[in-house]
Amino acid sequence: MNNRIAGFKQTGVEPEEQDLLDNIDKQKLPRHIAIIMDGNGRWALQRGLHRSLGHRAGMESLKDIVNFCCDLKIEVLTVYGFSTENWKRPREEIDNLMNMIIEYLNKELEELCQKGVRVNPIGVLQELPQKTRDTLANSAAQSRDNQGLIFNLALNYGGRLEITDAVRAIATAVENGCMQANRVDIATVTAHLYTAGQPDPDLLIRTAGDSRLSNFLIWQAAYSEIWITGVLWPDFRRRHLSGALVDYQRRERRFGGLQK
Ligand code: FPP
Repeated sequence: MNNRIAGFKQTGVEPEEQDLLDNIDKQKLPRHIAIIMDGNGRWALQRGLHRSLGHRAGMESLKDIVNFCCDLKIEVLTVYGFSTENWKRPREEIDNLMNMIIEYLNKELEELCQKGVRVNPIGVLQELPQKTRDTLANSAAQSRDNQGLIFNLALNYGGRLEITDAVRAIATAVENGCMQANRVDIATVTAHLYTAGQPDPDLLIRTAGDSRLSNFLIWQAAYSEIWITGVLWPDFRRRHLSGALVDYQRRERRFGGLQK
């Protein structure tokens, strides 16, 4: 019973939500949670709203989920904010998203720092607009020494590009004589990813019902438990994450081995 999040009583929590919280075993929490925040556009469309309002509503979900991860003392949270493929979207939507990243960090950074969150943007950041890069760099610098949640914000992120960059860096090291080709192993590649030094995601969540990875953490997710919900990202709150955690804790992770 002690392992449960009992005593983890939060004010204003519905009994149903408290039940879910009570069912989470705090000894078996994932170290790293990764989320594909999908469905902002559909959420807006269902309400006859502009897509940008779906993204805006998604910022509220992000805030709640980051706070919950802090409450649970999760080590790493990675969210897919903008993929290398999202440049195919209309210019207006891209500009909107880039400005929203700035707005989110300007609004939240102080509280994130109070909670000990380390903001860690990952992706090909140099291709982002200068103002977005400046805000990201400032947020990362201000929160660098924080000891709580590592908050990976995946922006202009693509898993294939991340692996390609790692391979290129390793090939350069081999070419320069700093590394032997026959010594390159899984650990070498892992150490050259944006997530070097972090545990792989234990739980990967995708909202809005699609069953694909969409180029997100494709190396790191090799043994992630995948949890898909039809809930659209702007509706996703800590009670949904609690449900995902309860389901995750019921699974047996064998990593290719046999049942214990
Ligand atoms: C996917 O939904 C979502 C995105 C491409 C962007 C996610 C952005 C946010 C949650 C806003 C806040 C983000 C940050 C990083 C501060 P979609 O537009 O593809 O939805 P659809 O599939 O229903 O069209």
